[in-house]
Amino acid sequence: MSKNKIVVAYSGGLDTSVMVKWLSQKYDAEIITVTGNLGQKAELEGLEEKAKATGASKSYIADLQEEFITEYVWKSLKAGTLYEGQYPLACAIGRPLLAKLMVDVAKAEGANLVAHGCTGKGNDQVRFEVGIQSLAPDLKIIGPLRDWEFKSREDEIDYAIKNEIPIQISKESPYSIDENLWGIATECGVLEDPKAAPPEGAFQITENPKNAPEQSTTVSISFEKGIPTAVNGIELPPVELVKYLNDIGGKNGIGRIDMIENRVVGIKSREIYEAPAAIILHKAHMELEKLIMDRETFRYKQDVSNKISNLIYDGLWYSPLFNALMSFVETTQEFISGEIVMELYKGNMTVQSRDSEFSLYNKELATYSKDDVFDHKASDGFMKIFGLPYRTICKVHQKEETANVVG
Ligand code: ARG
Repeated sequence: MSKNKIVVAYSGGLDTSVMVKWLSQKYDAEIITVTGNLGQKAELEGLEEKAKATGASKSYIADLQEEFITEYVWKSLKAGTLYEGQYPLACAIGRPLLAKLMVDVAKAEGANLVAHGCTGKGNDQVRFEVGIQSLAPDLKIIGPLRDWEFKSREDEIDYAIKNEIPIQISKESPYSIDENLWGIATECGVLEDPKAAPPEGAFQITENPKNAPEQSTTVSISFEKGIPTAVNGIELPPVELVKYLNDIGGKNGIGRIDMIENRVVGIKSREIYEAPAAIILHKAHMELEKLIMDRETFRYKQDVSNKISNLIYDGLWYSPLFNALMSFVETTQEFISGEIVMELYKGNMTVQSRDSEFSLYNKELATYSKDDVFDHKASDGFMKIFGLPYRTICKVHQKEETANVVG
């Protein structure tokens, strides 16, 4: 009987394959692998057999796509979270769900340890470990990549061959890629030079806007209480809806993001993202809020969005502040129902039409035509009061200036 039971977050790649064997030896442990399907294209078929051939006693593969969209992506969309104004947080919202999967399996299997394959300078170790600690404070966590003896990919391959670990030694991609339904993140290789434009090969699901079709694509998106429910009038299940928008957005060159971002560990990194559905939906959702939400809530929500973005990025999904701020967000979404029509064209999106039964836009108030019902005379007194502090300031400051000149 092994002393320990370890649940390992497993992708079937070189690092996590080597990890399975390494952990079983180092900790005299029984290994259970877990893999979450968040819509990544990586091969899941045959993964269970592969894990077992590597020495795992059990292998879980969980299809989390629906849960990912409804419990994680939709919350982030309603909150309007784009980290540092750009990144839709695809990877960052996937990690807490994977952390929950690891905890669930560890509890079901009576495991005393969990392990992940993150490096010591990334954000994902933070999201996994803070997520796991928030859900299961007594579970011990191991991050072997931070301190094992292997210094290079070659060292790992040598170990794999010696230990008869099944690995596919394919031509190594120059990039590190993380993918799920909400977006793809690509870094490393030539992308590490911020002076260099990303080569075309760094993109997988988006057309170069220059080569996108000459014909635009018009798409209408319906929302109910802040959640997208239909595209072009056809109701779609959440996963299908996101896949469809990734497809048509990608074809029209929408969703490419090239940014320098601030990591949790204090360094700046350069990442390329492809997130057509996320970019389209954030834009459409924001347009609808502009039509429906009252001014003070809209302004306040911008600050809240920014705070929630930082919390998600920093791995604090399961924190009291995240929950509290999300309660605020939920309240604001009560009337965010309606339809936005957008035209997608060569990397750009333009709004064609906005419509909602809860629209606060009132044409009679907004118009400059004879139908105008706005009380222009009322503005006279309003201007006097609204400008009062500034008349006061100006007088006081002018007095000081005069005093300076004279004195
Ligand atoms: N920078 C992104 C984040 O922290 C993605 C991290 C993973 N990136 C990658 N290319 N493997 O959420």
